[in-house]
Amino acid sequence: MKTILVTGGAGFIGSHTCLCLTEKNYQLIVVDSNINSTNKSLEKIKYMNPNSKIIFAKGDIRDLSFMRKVFNNARENKSPIEAVIHFAGLKSVGESIANPLMYWDSNVCGSINLLKIMCEFKCHTIIFSSSATIYGNTKTNPITENEPINPTNPYGFTKAAIETILKGIFGSSESSWRIANLRYFNPIGAHKSGLIGEDPLGEPNNIFPILCKVVQGKHKELRIFGNDWPTFDGTGVRDYIHVMDLAEAHISSLEFLIENKPQYLELNIGTGIGTSVLELVKTFESVNKCKIPYVFCNRRIGDVANAVADNKKIISLLNWVPKRNIKDMCKDGWKWQSLNPKGFN
Ligand code: NAD
Ligand code: WQD
Repeated sequence: MKTILVTGGAGFIGSHTCLCLTEKNYQLIVVDSNINSTNKSLEKIKYMNPNSKIIFAKGDIRDLSFMRKVFNNARENKSPIEAVIHFAGLKSVGESIANPLMYWDSNVCGSINLLKIMCEFKCHTIIFSSSATIYGNTKTNPITENEPINPTNPYGFTKAAIETILKGIFGSSESSWRIANLRYFNPIGAHKSGLIGEDPLGEPNNIFPILCKVVQGKHKELRIFGNDWPTFDGTGVRDYIHVMDLAEAHISSLEFLIENKPQYLELNIGTGIGTSVLELVKTFESVNKCKIPYVFCNRRIGDVANAVADNKKIISLLNWVPKRNIKDMCKDGWKWQSLNPKGFN
């Protein structure tokens, strides 16, 4: 049974990935500071899969001695960490503009720390949560992995910097490293059970949790940022991906890395299908039989018209295809929100 360290594993994408990993019989060590999560998500995973083996270590990846203890304990327990899936980090674009240093410290210093400890313990396999935000405002859509890296906000710069660091580590010697940078597009939805899902602390910025708050009556209306974009209906187009498809992409990436020679991968993770804000609203309404009041507002600073993944690379390389469509995302995401209006609390 292989032991995998999952940083940020109590969070939205991390928890869904942990569930999939336990179903594949991996033994997990989850490191999370709970700055944007609660470990109730992990308790739910144990409930959903009673055979799961998860050790939770509460702490910050920037704490070198804590991280050393985590790796050391695993080694002493004769289950050394074989690979790391690295979700831990801060993810709000707006917050990163307001407080860039906090983002550089948490995301970049945190990753450097993690990589130092991985080197110390000769653990050379890592899957990193990168983001489509690193492409910035692209000339072409769908976006391939060869598109220039051109972030437009500090959050995006931190993700691009971590990718650069990882590339440097890979190229530094006769590489023994197995590295995958997974560039997520727009993850939404939840596990179909409604038992785990997205539970951001504080006010969400992303459309899906905001949309759910409107349906719950916590917000009067959805503010649609612009109806004058150069898209077919004037609203922003994104590549929404079901969080379970995203979680499964991590399993496929992990298996691929473990089974193959050391290598460095950059992979887009999206469905390849664009959905406009208005289409998302209409689909949500029809699937969940509800009404979403909305108003058109000015464009949000920093937004782009279109961001859709060219996902040919991951589909041809890995044993993975996205299986769930936008209707599934709306149905499953709302099931979680409606069953748990206060999240895990
Ligand atoms: P999330 O906030 O739900 O999960 C991140 C987890 O990391 C949280 O549980 C948080 O408590 C933890 N964490 C943060 N900083 C930490 C630190 N220094 N030490 C230890 N734990 C720490 O976010 P998510 O949506 O699950 O995103 C996971 C990763 O995927 C992030 O790196 C994010 O940047 C990236 N990503 C997310 C999206 C998205 O839209 N959700 C898109 C692209 C990339
Ligand atoms: C989607 C669409 C908005 C809110 C962000 C990050 C990106 C990645 C995913 C982490 C856009 C519109 C939104 C609202 C709206 N995260 N919208 N009203 O901006 O594509 O990507 O999350 O890596 O880095 O930038 O996602 O969900 O905020 O917006 O009209 O109240 O919904 O304009 O067209 P985005 P989003």
